[in-house]
Amino acid sequence: MKCSVCGAPAQVEVRRRNRAFCVEHYREWFVRETRRNVKRHRMIRPQDRLLAAVSGGKDSLVLWSVLSQLGYEAVGLHIQLGIGDYSRRALETTRAFAAAHGLDLIVVDVRESFGLTIPELARATGRAACSGCGLSKRYLMNRVAEDEGFNVVATGHNLDDEAATLLGNVSHWQLDALMRQGPMLAERPGLARRIKPLYTFTEREVAAYAFLAGISYQHEECPHAEGAKSLLYKELLNRLETRMPGTKQVFLEQYLKKVQPALRDHSVEAEVELRRCERCGSVTTGAVCAHCKLWDRAYARAKKRHLLPPDAGFDPRPKLHFLTRSEP
Ligand code: AMP
Ligand code: FES
Ligand code: ZN
Ligand code: ZN
Repeated sequence: MKCSVCGAPAQVEVRRRNRAFCVEHYREWFVRETRRNVKRHRMIRPQDRLLAAVSGGKDSLVLWSVLSQLGYEAVGLHIQLGIGDYSRRALETTRAFAAAHGLDLIVVDVRESFGLTIPELARATGRAACSGCGLSKRYLMNRVAEDEGFNVVATGHNLDDEAATLLGNVSHWQLDALMRQGPMLAERPGLARRIKPLYTFTEREVAAYAFLAGISYQHEECPHAEGAKSLLYKELLNRLETRMPGTKQVFLEQYLKKVQPALRDHSVEAEVELRRCERCGSVTTGAVCAHCKLWDRAYARAKKRHLLPPDAGFDPRPKLHFLTRSEP
């Protein structure tokens, strides 16, 4: 197989596009496609201040790297979840990447900020770790963005993530989630714009880019992800993709192009009014936001079980560590 651009021996095949590339042209194609995604959805505008949510995995490190190659200055945000060695290695990888590339990084430790790690939060609430984890991550991304003056939060979600989420939402006809899902969630007062510039690349394509660009990332998955429904949806979509290359892309893109606009046109629900949470001041729909409710409940239960001192109270203000380029 030959590179579709220069005719040299190809190293990567993108079957769904009927194209193959040598190393140099694959990297070029990847960066160009990312720029197209950003432009097509007007994800980033000249005055924007960007925060890149970086876990230490391939998607977010590739995202951070490609954004800087495109000339966008994004400060990284790493959330330390306290999931044993997995989280320690995630932080090490992220720090090493930031230092090697001269990028600014903000680190927030969930336990230092809120008093419990994600596994301890799960034990206290009796809910799966992933649900509290997802809620705290979303809260922190938005909260840090608002407090530190960033109006855009970029995440590394790829095509596999987005197609799997769509399949999950369709299987349960989650209309609210279906209407919101997409590569960009508009900015509203108190809510940063959320963008996913890598949403058209498969996981394999992102991994290939990371490998060819020499980006070392954390390969291990979160131990709590095992058995997660999202993995089952990904597996099913991969089986379809093997038999019918392009399935994931068509499934997601055609949904966004043809179905979502119709859904939105026929929606009878008025846009919900937003207000400020009485506990933490973040934007929410009720009197108290879901994050404060979850942590208040966790505190009450953790105190009963003597995991926290009786006078402990949940303080929703995150504690930030700024690791700047000059002090790696
Ligand atoms: P996941 O929910 O693990 O599939 O991650 C989706 C995206 O969320 C990643 O590509 C990152 O941009 C972001 N993200 C996940 N975990 C973290 C973390 N611990 N710290 C910062 N960002 C994260
Ligand atoms: Fe959040 Fe696994 S529970 S990353
Ligand atoms: Zn080539
Ligand atoms: Zn709150």
